[in-house]
Amino acid sequence: MKLIVNGQAREVDVEDDMPLLWVLRDELGVTGVKYGCGIAQCGACTVHVDGQAVRSCQMSAGSLEDGAEVTTIEGLGTPEALNVVQEAWIEHQVAQCGYCQSGQIMQAAALLEMNDAPTDAEIDAAMSGNLCRCGTYPRIRAAVKSAATKLQEA
Ligand code: FES
Repeated sequence: MKLIVNGQAREVDVEDDMPLLWVLRDELGVTGVKYGCGIAQCGACTVHVDGQAVRSCQMSAGSLEDGAEVTTIEGLGTPEALNVVQEAWIEHQVAQCGYCQSGQIMQAAALLEMNDAPTDAEIDAAMSGNLCRCGTYPRIRAAVKSAATKLQEA
């Protein structure tokens, strides 16, 4: 099947039941996306498919449209031109161990794509499926608000 991964056309030959997470990590070497629980309960594997945040551990390759656009943390911004959410994460020094954070950032970016002025309650609701064993939730909320402010000013 053909996929557009982080803006690049890629072709993979995989079984329909292979999770997108393994397509990305094992077939394409895109390892910014992480395996957490494997049952779509923690959010570490969050990526965007056609602009929507999805849990890649539970999305089968066969369920993707041919030519689907998949974006991971590597495609959100570059070291030279960070996405506003990535900038806010650095500004607020959000990460602790860091394992959950690419999923957190992808979830936050999807939220801000739909709503650039989320309330605290909307942030908490949007981020509630992304778990952080290090408890970085207050910094995540602050960084999302900071990114929202920058988007509104832009
Ligand atoms: Fe360690 Fe979130 S920063 S799990």
